[in-house]
This record gives sequence, C-alpha cells and structure tokens, in this order.
Amino acid sequence: MSDTVAPIDWEALHEAAVEAMGRAYAPYSNFPVGAAALVDDGRVISGCNVENASYGVGLCAECSLVSGLMMSGGGKLVAFACVDGKGAALMPCGRCRQLLFEHSADGMLLATVSGIKTIDEVLPDAFGPRQLQEYGA
Ligand code: THU
Repeated sequence: MSDTVAPIDWEALHEAAVEAMGRAYAPYSNFPVGAAALVDDGRVISGCNVENASYGVGLCAECSLVSGLMMSGGGKLVAFACVDGKGAALMPCGRCRQLLFEHSADGMLLATVSGIKTIDEVLPDAFGPRQLQEYGA
C-alpha cells in the first residue's frame, strides 16, 4: 500500500469484532466469535458465528463477514480482526483463511495471536482464483 493510504485503525476493528461477537449465536459450543474487516473503499464490515442444531451446518464468523461483504457492495479486504468471547485475538480456522484469501486485497493484514501478519503468511502458497485461470478453467 502507498504512503497516502490512512493507517489502519486496529482499535476500531477490534471494537467492531467485539460488537459482532456479542451477536453470535453459539448455544452449542458456547464459543462466540466476532470478526471485522476494513474494505478497500473504507467501510468496515463484521460477522459472527451462527451455529445450528445440526452441528456441522454451523457458520463461522468469517463466513458471515464474507456474506456481508458481498451484500454491502463487495470489494477487497484490507485488514481483518477476529476475537473470541473474551475479546482476545483468535486465529481464523483453515477453512476461513481460504474464505478470506478469495476476497483479500494484495498484502491484506490480519491481527493474529502473534501480531500483525499478511494473508500470505497465514495461508502460504494458497490455492485461489489464479490457479483456476492458469489452468484455463
Ligand atoms: N469459529 C469461528 O467462527 N471462526 C473461526 O475461525 C474458528 C471457529 C466458530 C465455529 C464454532 O461456532 C465455534 O467457533 C467453535 O468452534
């Protein structure tokens, strides 16, 4: 990103993730999760986990966030934060890293349990749209 881009307000993203976590529907795991992201047009989107009596059908917070991204105009994710029920940073699960990768801006940043990392660091050698294009699919 260029120097002219505003610095990322990680505190605001964390607050948005905590707010989203408060909306989680997690009666089976009792593990509420909230996620928030900055989109490349400046808006902030969020999501929470939504579980189901049929346990495997439950949706992660990132899934909810990506749906919100598309429903609110699309765009690319620039920065992302995810929290558990105590407001502590939470690593996106493997499936959710893939979900985020699909919609990531180049160099997308994540607030992780071990500091700020790029999407390429948390999902190295990712499979994505480019591989399908190269194959001609
Ligand atoms: N969960 C998320 O929402 N995101 C993650 O990246 C990890 C796990 C949710 C799924 C389930 O509702 C609860 O956390 C316990 O696994």
